[in-house]
Amino acid sequence: MTDPTTQSDLDEYGALPIFRPGPELYVEANPYRRPLGETGKAEFAEPATEAEFLSHRHLIASRILCNVYESEMVLLPEDGVGPVKGDFDQFYGPEVRRLHDAMRPSLERYSFGLLERLEAPPVRTVEELEAYFLGEVEGAGAPPDASGNNPAVDAAARLTGSMRAIVECPEPEDAARLNLIQLALDGLTEASAMAGNLAGFYGPEQSELFKVFTDEFGYGVYRAKHSTLFRGMVSSIGLRTDVHAYWNFYLTSSLAGANYFNYLTKNHRGVFRYMGAVSYLEWLFAQGFADMGTMLRTVFGDRADTRYTDEHAHIDIHHGRMTFENLLLGLARRHGEAVVPELVRGIVETKELLRLGDADFQAQIAWASSLDEHTRLGTKLASSAADDGTATVLKPGDPFSTRVHDGDRLVEVTGGEAEVHAWATDTPHRLGAGETLLVPAGRLYGLRAAAPRAEVAVRPVR
Ligand SMILES: [Fe+2]
Ligand SMILES: [Fe+2]
Repeated sequence: MTDPTTQSDLDEYGALPIFRPGPELYVEANPYRRPLGETGKAEFAEPATEAEFLSHRHLIASRILCNVYESEMVLLPEDGVGPVKGDFDQFYGPEVRRLHDAMRPSLERYSFGLLERLEAPPVRTVEELEAYFLGEVEGAGAPPDASGNNPAVDAAARLTGSMRAIVECPEPEDAARLNLIQLALDGLTEASAMAGNLAGFYGPEQSELFKVFTDEFGYGVYRAKHSTLFRGMVSSIGLRTDVHAYWNFYLTSSLAGANYFNYLTKNHRGVFRYMGAVSYLEWLFAQGFADMGTMLRTVFGDRADTRYTDEHAHIDIHHGRMTFENLLLGLARRHGEAVVPELVRGIVETKELLRLGDADFQAQIAWASSLDEHTRLGTKLASSAADDGTATVLKPGDPFSTRVHDGDRLVEVTGGEAEVHAWATDTPHRLGAGETLLVPAGRLYGLRAAAPRAEVAVRPVR
């Protein structure tokens, strides 16, 4: 049992200037400034259940864990650290390190305990592993003989899951941007988690991973590095390219997914789970990124720079093969039944994170694109809502952060006018006096004053 995170550590952490919200929606040229929002009670002793996966507490835990892992990476603003050198010093400084060390074990248990309790199939031998893996990738729509760009198949008609939800969303551009924002969480630092498993000695499998890594880093050529191609893609659809410019708009599931890979590579007991997870993902990426390219071209036409998705549709056919044959099966052959269950567990846990991530993202774009409807619903429900709630007054320039609620809430503007930011859009939803928005549990949003003074009441739905 790990020591729990104490209330005083959590409060102290949330009060540090780099973690306190500022007035801005988007954090530019400062990868150290990461508004936490309302930190609440330090109750992280028990692992989050699936019902708590999208809770506000898990959002806060996931934001902190992201900071924990990224304080072990080098992050510098493109145009120089000078203007934010004080924040750099604090982010990498001894106070933050001490608090991270104190909170990390219980936050990891809280966040990843859900995955660790999943049941895994009884796969033990190399042959069983091979059959299991191929069955899983086939089931995920990426069979061994798949060609991501078969011209005989109408690519847009074949989209499924989140990619289909985006093209069918009433606001497809905002939905597509929100999707790339979630990817930007680790797309702008692509393969940094992988870098955590390059050091040490573990035979030919280590060299295999290194080959994949050098591709991800464009063989040392900056313009070919995957994260550089990623920047080209996001800027082509009008998004900022600074690391964590959209910190306020990362969904809980996206943070948890990116954190998982850092968790496994910074806690080396997780190395076999990581290798299972990375083999599974690299295999799925070829088809997944071909579909993302199709989605971007469908939504934005020629405006979208799809070199990033095109590159992955191509190279990850190789990375999928390499990691499957030489990393996953290589480790299974060398280390045998002692490690096969953990290789499998990495796949099981990744699948679950993908499932939870898709559900969270699709729920967010469905809600964010129907705020008018949710305002009509909320205003109708307002008369029957419970009286207990919180009332706040917002003024222009107040600190901005985003949050989720653990149950359905009614956000009522009782005076003035407020803007609702449910995704990164140029046209946020406006709520006038007397209007009430229904915010379902787990939906991410932030409020800003759209008048000199906005009075807002937040009440539970009865
Ligand atoms: Fe890549
Ligand atoms: Fe790859």
